[in-house]
Amino acid sequence: MSSRRLAPDAVQPASFAFDKAGKAMVETWIAKYPAGRQASAVIPLLWEAQKQAGGWLPRAAIEHVAEVLGMPNIRVLEVATFYTMFNLEPAGTHFIQLCGTVPCHCMGAQDLKKVLKDKIGAEHHVTADGKFSWLEVECLGACCNAPMVQINDDYYEDLTPESLAKLIDDMAAGKPVKIGPQNGRKASEPKDSIKTLKDAALYDGSAVGSWKKAFDERVAAQKKAKEEAAKAAAEAGKATGGAPAAAPAAPAPAAVKASEPKAQAEPKVKVVAAKAEPKAKAEPKAGSKPKAAPKAKAAPAPSAAEPAPVGDEFKPELLKAARGGKADDLELIWGVGPKLGKMLNGMGVFHFDQIAKWSNENLAWVDQNLGAFKGRAVRDDWIGQSKKLATGWRPENAVGDKPVK
Ligand code: FES
Repeated sequence: MSSRRLAPDAVQPASFAFDKAGKAMVETWIAKYPAGRQASAVIPLLWEAQKQAGGWLPRAAIEHVAEVLGMPNIRVLEVATFYTMFNLEPAGTHFIQLCGTVPCHCMGAQDLKKVLKDKIGAEHHVTADGKFSWLEVECLGACCNAPMVQINDDYYEDLTPESLAKLIDDMAAGKPVKIGPQNGRKASEPKDSIKTLKDAALYDGSAVGSWKKAFDERVAAQKKAKEEAAKAAAEAGKATGGAPAAAPAAPAPAAVKASEPKAQAEPKVKVVAAKAEPKAKAEPKAGSKPKAAPKAKAAPAPSAAEPAPVGDEFKPELLKAARGGKADDLELIWGVGPKLGKMLNGMGVFHFDQIAKWSNENLAWVDQNLGAFKGRAVRDDWIGQSKKLATGWRPENAVGDKPVK
């Protein structure tokens, strides 16, 4: 960081006064503030003084500004020593400010510093021809084009030691130089290696609201799956002459044991469903109130909102063992952990393509047999996930939403 002391007496001029253009500028600035508040113009006046003094603020210039504004010298000195935009020592005609803050540091500012030291010398040193001096400063706000330097009023970005050295050589030779990024990119556009920012969907507006849309679709799919499962169960009940499985009395004691998938799943559901009253339908479309009300109310059903149990006729194709002795890593399915993976294997599910082929009823059948994990298969759209995984798609290789490999 820069030293904030006045330059030695040896380099201090004896006096300073604004020239004609400077005086006009001073009047313009002072006129911008209400009477008695002219001290507010201290920064623009110091800036004018610095420009007139050749890029730095001699003590005499600071005192002159204090006099013009009617301020104590120390108040103006406080301002001049606080802001690094004010040079307190003579500077080169090409005054280079090197950003050394973290992003620029990580991108090679230290290598640029070596170039400056080699070509110009230590910080604050002005070259013998008076053309160059440099200073390390804090972030200049061009981090996305790091590393960078400011030379007088312009930024030079995306620098390498070579491009900075050439920049200095060209300036020394009086050649024109290019302002801005020095690596050919325009402003802070993505570099070629950055794929994500090249995704057109990020800029064409199609991504707006996509998260909510996906969420709504998932909720709708869950609702539909539940309705279809309930409908299927009801039809199964009709076929056997009994009540639809939604009969509230049906799941009673077994269903409470959510951690025991098998106990909840198979025969009990069917048998009880068959015994239930025909009109005890849970389905709203029936429009009729269940006549089996007393029984339904008496049952300590776990949740009135739960879908009806799905009969075994919707049991998906299950395997005795993994094909070729090698099961797919079912934990790649979002929401499936080691415990659930083992549970699926125990059920006879080993492969993504098995799940990918399931109907919604199959999914509902499996879901109701997941014990404490009941609800996950539908909620997390295992079928959709497995369809992708069965193609070889893997999350870590995904670009956008397309299968990779
Ligand atoms: S860190 Fe260097 S410009 Fe921001």
